[in-house]
Amino acid sequence: MLTTSAIHDRDNEDEYKMKMVTLPDGIGVPALGQGTWRIGEKKSAHADEVAALRLGIELGMTLIDTAEMYGEGGAEKIVADAIEGQRDRVFVVTKVYPHNASHTELPRACERSLKRLRIDTIDLYLLHWREKNTPLAETVETFEKLRATGKIKRWGVSNFDVDDMKEIPSIENGQNCATDQVLYNLENREIESGLLPWSLKNEIPIMAYAPVGHGRGLLENATLKKIAKRHDATPAQIALAWVLRQPGMIAIPKANNEEHVRDNACSTEVKLTKEDFTQLDQEFPPPKSKQPLPTL
Ligand SMILES: NC(=O)c1ccc[n+]([C@@H]2O[C@H](COP(=O)([O-])OP(=O)(O)OC[C@H]3O[C@@H](n4cnc5c(N)ncnc54)[C@H](OP(=O)(O)O)[C@@H]3O)[C@@H](O)[C@H]2O)c1
Repeated sequence: MLTTSAIHDRDNEDEYKMKMVTLPDGIGVPALGQGTWRIGEKKSAHADEVAALRLGIELGMTLIDTAEMYGEGGAEKIVADAIEGQRDRVFVVTKVYPHNASHTELPRACERSLKRLRIDTIDLYLLHWREKNTPLAETVETFEKLRATGKIKRWGVSNFDVDDMKEIPSIENGQNCATDQVLYNLENREIESGLLPWSLKNEIPIMAYAPVGHGRGLLENATLKKIAKRHDATPAQIALAWVLRQPGMIAIPKANNEEHVRDNACSTEVKLTKEDFTQLDQEFPPPKSKQPLPTL
């Protein structure tokens, strides 16, 4: 099985390099990060949740995604403890509720997130999803003001479909949108029919959430298990390697279990073959209107 000990057994550990994705402003971030949904909800889980994130950071998954919504701020506090003493190594992504995305509420929500995260600046601040009550141009303008004051380094969006994304370049400073964080895994390939080709063409990376299908039925799939066996890997590693096959793609699996964290960190080692892709396409068919994907 692909384990982190295999990484550490190498003669030259420096050879192990995390695949990087370049954001539109030129900064490189690890293609494989960590999610935090459903953490920060129970006091009793605090130490384990912090330890899991710290282990992930140690293993190179130094991009951490969170949101003011997760545990109503609880997840951001766990992230704060996990990055304590190593803030500079970590790329912190958090998200604002759409009902806090107006020019009056967004700076306040940002301050609250900064305080919970115990940091001076957010590396990437995302609009969690779109609601029509605040015009997108108002949110973008406020993101830009936060960027100018150094409260955030860059901004992006989440759960935007291709039509939403097409609107962004027409908004002033819309070209600064750093990513769209969306659902993407073997069972949910809808973005391949529009959003993914558009993003590749416009060089806006996609951040895939639920890349291991929320850890549910997907990982029990017989084809996935068969391919995993062939690679001496786990189904989750195959699922992640499949998501990360795509250029400009970031994946943010969430794992509390130490074994899962180690598993996920090693998924970048898996090299899927043509035969694997064919079998995965048969088992998890791409959307019918799939367009040919350009490369970044
Ligand atoms: N923007 C949005 O609207 C949105 C929506 C959903 C999620 N997200 C973000 O994306 C992140 C990931 O999505 P998600 O948490 O919904 O789903 P996910 O990462 O696909 O799945 C997480 C589940 O899978 C399990 N798991 C992780 N690695 C595993 C492995 N190697 N083997 C077996 N099981 C494994 C975890 O178990 P353990 O915890 O027990 O290890 C957990 O139950 C979230 O945490 C959040 O940061 C964003």
